[in-house]
Amino acid sequence: MAQVRDGFQSRFGFVLAAAGAAVGLGNIWGFPTQAANHGGGAFLLVYFIVIFLLALPALYTELYLGHKAQANPVKALGDAWQNTNKKIGAAAGYIGLAGAVVMLSFYSIVAGWMLSYAIEPITSFFGFDAASDFLHSDSVLRNFVFTPLMLILTASIILKGVKSGIETWSRRLMPLLLVLLIGLIVYIASLDGASEGFAAYLIPDFSQVLDPNLIIAAMGQAFFSLSLGVGCMMIYGSYLQPDANLPKLTASVALLDTSVAFLAGLLIVPAIYVAQHNGVEVFNGGKLIGEGQLIFAILPELFNTMGEIGLLVGLLFFVLMSIASVTSTISTTEIPVAFLVENHNVNRTKATWAVSLVVLICASAIILNFDWLFGLVIMLFTQYQLPLMGLFYFITVGWMWQRGNKLHEATTGIHYWFAQYIRFVCPILMTLVFANVAFG
Ligand code: ALA
Repeated sequence: MAQVRDGFQSRFGFVLAAAGAAVGLGNIWGFPTQAANHGGGAFLLVYFIVIFLLALPALYTELYLGHKAQANPVKALGDAWQNTNKKIGAAAGYIGLAGAVVMLSFYSIVAGWMLSYAIEPITSFFGFDAASDFLHSDSVLRNFVFTPLMLILTASIILKGVKSGIETWSRRLMPLLLVLLIGLIVYIASLDGASEGFAAYLIPDFSQVLDPNLIIAAMGQAFFSLSLGVGCMMIYGSYLQPDANLPKLTASVALLDTSVAFLAGLLIVPAIYVAQHNGVEVFNGGKLIGEGQLIFAILPELFNTMGEIGLLVGLLFFVLMSIASVTSTISTTEIPVAFLVENHNVNRTKATWAVSLVVLICASAIILNFDWLFGLVIMLFTQYQLPLMGLFYFITVGWMWQRGNKLHEATTGIHYWFAQYIRFVCPILMTLVFANVAFG
């Protein structure tokens, strides 16, 4: 008897799981950092335009590919390219899988920092100073403790499957994340210095809007934030019921993800200005002092200036970050796990541990070569691999895949125009952005 494929039980569960995949460090750390460094409101404006013009159609395209194929990205893309050359599609699927492993490798390191910073207020409260120093240290040892811990946490959810693991935990964690985020915004907004931060965040400096570096940064950020380009949304799309309303689900996921990024900016950018108001050195020549400093130096220093309540605020903040991290690592781990299960008949438990082990090996290579490798991997991955894969998906759905492609067959109404938009406008827009960076 054919095995029934696991999947999401409800649309709401899917939206929370996909939004959980999308909402992560990219929203709460990456987005506000980029905004603070690229003219606040100017970045916000360009980001919203990129989300609407490119990332939203890319999200739809990726979900669509997975939904139609009801399979993992290697199979889905191979099938989509079968009229031309199946191997090209499958190769793109493998590049996505490799991307997922690379992403997990650096992501689980940072996620591990979040976990250690979430525990630190507790050790600090009980006066365990040596433990606190270790948890706040930048040490290789701490990375080798917390990166595997994050991977084990992720694996324990993945092992339970899509419905009982991913969907159930997304339903529990995502509402908690939203409550924590809004609570923290309200608190930070009440502090001196916050209003300057709101102004910097919300009022665009139009002189920066056309800066090619800002545009490519916004595009990379948008693709990373929506977890596009590695097959994450393709695999989640494949777990949807066949009658799912894809346009509506796409809009809900993008709206939730973009709202959380926007809200995170409302928390972090004012927090930076509150820190500055409290005497913490934050900017140097208009740029944040080291991007990594934002979360791990500036904010803890801010929490320190708040006295006892700072311990609680710090705890809640890093719990929020840990939740955001784990809902993203589970979705990314699911891609190679589903591939091993479906294409190679490996059982789910073995596949999960095998993927976790490979990620740990890659993460170890980054930890041991941190100074030059960490930033380089993130930059290449977010600014180039993800948008280029997005371009590939547009070409796949718009041009290569013929039979059974509803979008391709659409000849009337909104579907017709949307199909033309995906075929012509999206690839041209993306090529222009890359050309602008290369020759601009
Ligand atoms: N989309 C995830 C994030 O924003 C990977 O962190």
